[in-house]
Amino acid sequence: MRLVDMLREGRILARAVGLGRVLRSKRRHQQAKPILRGYHTYKAIQALSEIGFLDELKKGEPLSSEGFASSRNMNQDVLKAVCRYLEGVGVLMRLDRGYALSEFGFEITEEPRGMFNLTRAYTPLVDNLTELIRGNNDGLERDIGYVARGSGELGEQIPFPVLRDIVLERGSKKVLDLGCGDMRFPIMLCRADGNVVVYGIDKDENALREAERNIRNADLDGRLFTTQADMFDLDKLKKRFEKGQIDCLVAIDVFHEYMNNPNAVIGLLRDYRNYFHPADFVIGEMFSQPKRELARMPSATLEHIFHHEISGQQVVPLENWRYVYCAAGFTTLDEKVFTSFGHCYHVLQ
Ligand SMILES: C[S@@+](CC[C@H](N)C(=O)[O-])C[C@H]1O[C@@H](n2cnc3c(N)ncnc32)[C@H](O)[C@@H]1O
Repeated sequence: MRLVDMLREGRILARAVGLGRVLRSKRRHQQAKPILRGYHTYKAIQALSEIGFLDELKKGEPLSSEGFASSRNMNQDVLKAVCRYLEGVGVLMRLDRGYALSEFGFEITEEPRGMFNLTRAYTPLVDNLTELIRGNNDGLERDIGYVARGSGELGEQIPFPVLRDIVLERGSKKVLDLGCGDMRFPIMLCRADGNVVVYGIDKDENALREAERNIRNADLDGRLFTTQADMFDLDKLKKRFEKGQIDCLVAIDVFHEYMNNPNAVIGLLRDYRNYFHPADFVIGEMFSQPKRELARMPSATLEHIFHHEISGQQVVPLENWRYVYCAAGFTTLDEKVFTSFGHCYHVLQ
């Protein structure tokens, strides 16, 4: 903008509105901008992810939005608008032959992609917060397929390698993963040890669909099995798994869903211990931090806890987990606590 135009506009606004008010209003809009921009940017990136555009961009070749949309019978105009918006916020770059990811766009869609998918999982709730607050939660549920995918993508980065080492150092070969989600953890275990076999159970068919896709791509034939089952239905599992068949049970980020009724978790763990003893039970769980700590946290823990709280899940303090394991009759053989990302790992027997 030319200086002369700026002065002319400034004079008119100062007379009509007042200079102080104009400047204050500008500052306030600037403060609100990242909030609204974050919302639209997330929605736009997630849409590109879900239609497969993001994966194509990741291959590194410029991609035409028109070509992509027309070859898949999609709306070219809307896809173009999404790309232009993401160009505006610096996620995409416009090149001669189409769009490419900027360095920033590439970075935020690598490791953080799990967080995008977890955010997507809770969209039915977050998009309907007004209804939830008013007490109308009929039919409002998180999307477990995305929970499984997001947990798996995030888990692969830090928790799973730590848990893999814990399980393998114990010499376990026949593993039962309760609430296996998309099976990325079992796949990691099998890749690290050629003699490991993992049985995964999950109650959700969308999670198991994700699991089947990952198992197909993993090329670890005959060592990964899934069953759709509720882990509370131990009688069904007893028919599937004989006593002594399993030397390690694993449950990662599953039990907290039931911690609004700790006695149910204690009872379940006790039943598992009685049937599978002396198998190890390796449990990875999240724990809550003092609220003061949480507000200061630069990590996504704040959103994570928010998602759990609006969906009626309890993220409890570390002491509660210790109490539950002890009350279920377990002896703790090992405990690893990561306050930096609010996860604790226990080996129980
Ligand atoms: C947060 S995800 C974690 C998935 C996986 N363990 C991981 O770490 O990637 C929780 C999973 O537990 C499954 N789940 C929850 N309650 C269950 C139950 N009662 N029986 C079996 N699976 C259950 C959900 O369907 C979901 O796939």
